[in-house]
Amino acid sequence: MPAVVVVGAQWGDEGKGKATDQLGAQVDYVVKFNGGNNAGHTVVIDGEKYALHLLPSGILSPGVTPVIGNGVVIDLEVLFQEIDALVTRGVDVSRLLVSSAAHVIAPYNRTIDKVTERFLGKRKIGTTGRGIGPTYADKINRVGIRVQDLFDENILRQKVEGALDQKNHLLVKVYNRRAITVEETVEDLLRYAERLRPMVADTPLILNRALDAGKIVLFEGGQATMLDVDHGTYPFVTSSNATAGGVCTGSGVGPTRIDRVIGVVKAYATRVGEGPFPTELLDEMGEFLRATGGEFGVTTGRPRRCGWYDAVVARYSSRINGLTDFVLTKLDVLTGLEKIPVCVAYDVDGVRYDEMPADQSNFHHAKPVLVEYDGWTEDITQARTFEDLPVNAQRYVLALEELSGTRISAIGVGPGRDATILRHDLIG
Ligand code: GDP
Ligand code: IMO
Ligand code: MG
Repeated sequence: MPAVVVVGAQWGDEGKGKATDQLGAQVDYVVKFNGGNNAGHTVVIDGEKYALHLLPSGILSPGVTPVIGNGVVIDLEVLFQEIDALVTRGVDVSRLLVSSAAHVIAPYNRTIDKVTERFLGKRKIGTTGRGIGPTYADKINRVGIRVQDLFDENILRQKVEGALDQKNHLLVKVYNRRAITVEETVEDLLRYAERLRPMVADTPLILNRALDAGKIVLFEGGQATMLDVDHGTYPFVTSSNATAGGVCTGSGVGPTRIDRVIGVVKAYATRVGEGPFPTELLDEMGEFLRATGGEFGVTTGRPRRCGWYDAVVARYSSRINGLTDFVLTKLDVLTGLEKIPVCVAYDVDGVRYDEMPADQSNFHHAKPVLVEYDGWTEDITQARTFEDLPVNAQRYVLALEELSGTRISAIGVGPGRDATILRHDLIG
């Protein structure tokens, strides 16, 4: 079972970092294939907390080669800040590989991300402001800057000129900002070029050869299914393919090589930023989930919006990603609730939808059809087998499994590496 994918099945922050880290001892490569430092993964090892943004979570496992694939957008300053911070804590980052075809977040793209959001006003997306959308837009517009461009100053200058030409018109005439010069941009981008050079590699070749040799490659998604630019709640999405389909384009590994796709799903739901969220709780129950689950963004510190588990979203994720397994996280956060409602379908102006409405306006108007399950009060953080869980917690998990379209192979009962119940092996 050589190629395994881990993706978010909701709106992000499901615990993909922990799930990836946990598999670290069993895998040879961990590849980030989409997104950039909009992601924030918290991994807890022996009580020590690590917050990762751009580096694959596999960086924390000694035997793993971490890879930043071609589908990622890289903020070089953030990359080296993150590397330096890990080195200070004794983590070996020397095996890191970076695709020569990955795009670089130029400083003007951060500026444009922020001014565009301000300009949108009420219609804003609530982006992380890291320049992700404008950098992917440049890629699709064919005016992006790639890692390989950093090693030829003439080419870099020409590309920056090409990219800035239009942008300065926009910045000055529409957004009333100062023009950005080619020189300042080139200087900024070249600052890290020499440090980056030894990490740059033909990552599709390396990954395909690794698979040929029987190595185990894990692909770690950033963001999640409902934030995917094609399959999420457009336009309230990120600008990359965060679903399993993004693995192939974002890494150069073909679909026939992938045999396991793991969706990470929280025992309730959260969302950061704007956009529809049918099971959102705006009352004290939402507050309870936020406080108990520590639901504050790792990247921007924003409070996450919280709501009940949405089985329609879970079934949609099962389908869109071709999931083979779910990892259910944060079951422990629900301890103490008398009743736990789960959304099993939507009511849209009196019409029942058992599956995700294909029309976005219907999703915006969707009211959850809730079914209540009995809660439990026992502490479950020490449970390590399914049978260790109180009967009502077991029933809740089995109900979610039945409703969500894919078996639940692991259950998270705490943030630590070992706080997991494994029901089926995830690799092998
Ligand atoms: P990611 O972006 O999908 O990697 O998720 P985040 O790291 O942004 O958010 C998940 C948070 O939940 C992190 O703080 C994790 O340490 C924590 N976490 C992961 N799994 C569990 C779990 O099973 N129980 C609890 N209580 N916390 C968890
Ligand atoms: P991880 O990998 C949760 C959200 C932003 C915003 C939208 C677009 O930690 O799960 P962007 O800056 O990407 O253009 O913002 O996507 N968003 C995330 N929400 N978890 C993330 O990553 C996210 N990355 C982006 O809040 O609504
Ligand atoms: Mg996160």
